[in-house]
Amino acid sequence: MPSPRKNILVTGAAGYIGSHIALCCLLSGEYSVVTIDNFSNSFPEGLKRVTKIAQDALPADATEEDKKALEIEVFRGDITLKEDINQVFEAYKSKGGIWGVIHVAAHKAVGESGEKPIQYYENNITATINLLSIMEKYEVYRIVYSSSATVYGAPKQIPIPETSVLAPESVYGRTKHMSELILKDVCDSKPDLWRAIGLRYFNPAGSHPSGEIGEDPRGKPGNLLPLLSQMATGKFAEEGLKIFGNDYPTPDGTCVRDYLHVMDLAQGHVDALAALLRDDIFQNQASGTGFGGSGGKYKAYNLGKGKGMSVLQMVEAMRKATGFDYKYTIVGRRTGDVPDLTADPSLANKELGFTCKYGLEEMARDQWGFNKKYPQGYETKK
Ligand code: WQD
Repeated sequence: MPSPRKNILVTGAAGYIGSHIALCCLLSGEYSVVTIDNFSNSFPEGLKRVTKIAQDALPADATEEDKKALEIEVFRGDITLKEDINQVFEAYKSKGGIWGVIHVAAHKAVGESGEKPIQYYENNITATINLLSIMEKYEVYRIVYSSSATVYGAPKQIPIPETSVLAPESVYGRTKHMSELILKDVCDSKPDLWRAIGLRYFNPAGSHPSGEIGEDPRGKPGNLLPLLSQMATGKFAEEGLKIFGNDYPTPDGTCVRDYLHVMDLAQGHVDALAALLRDDIFQNQASGTGFGGSGGKYKAYNLGKGKGMSVLQMVEAMRKATGFDYKYTIVGRRTGDVPDLTADPSLANKELGFTCKYGLEEMARDQWGFNKKYPQGYETKK
């Protein structure tokens, strides 16, 4: 009789990254998933498809109970509201409780964050504080936090180790840096209870190879890859592709980013959940937080491939995958952009067992795979 799955709350699981994390949690065989999501930038359909992919992966002799355990319970709510978060933990008191939290829900557009700072600080910081407060109330002390490479700003050392100075240059990056500081202080306050891992995402791309789930933001995508993928379906033809600056100190003048397959990124969260139970990784914190050593169990890790690709290289990769002939114009730099964010992922490789199984071609193939299969995304846009 397999041991019962541990309940994991994934905030924002209906989103692009959250849905892939939920899928990898289910596929691991270890966890069941519950989420709180306000669907401000996602659709409920995505979660139904996550369950279907996981159920289809079950062995032929799987029972109805095995299949039911893969259903994701959805609490429609807003993580800036304590009462909305509280309802999840209260409901799960009678279902074995919440074993741990993966906190993903956030606003995440570098450019937009500079135009809407209050919205970004409220959604990204207040939500983190509310979540930690409710977790403490229900004595849930394990969390994996979705942080970001943007906490590094424009680092001198490339590839970037976790010990780099944290000097974010965008509002978005500052919300992630501040949230890491809050997590660290909370862990320092109760070192025998709290355990937290911050995962500094570089640039996720692609989608599950089935093409059933993918990146489907409401409105025009702010990020490069989903925009290129949607353009290949014929969208935004009149506006065309704008490349924000080609005068950066990089090989072809356009910004360099460390793109990793979203399935590799998602699996990194399952690796991190397992690592929360270990003590050794929290011993040498100075190598993993960028804050210097302390008594609490907070540790940050880079999730990237360790290979940088430029905007023009990614346009070419998507041209090959989609067959679409992208026409672009070079325009001015975008606020908050930095020349190069390429990870040194060796700490995560070593301590979490994190690896990137997919390459550039699979990222481009799978980013396109979802939009090719579902040109209108999860539902006809209202
Ligand atoms: C990449 C490059 C743009 C659109 C993302 C996430 C952020 C974080 C890091 C997790 C930049 C250029 C883009 C366009 C362009 N991930 N670009 N024309 O800014 O690196 O941030 O990854 O925390 O949440 O948003 O990604 O795809 O927006 O930009 O020239 O129409 O593509 O200037 O150089 P970014 P991006």
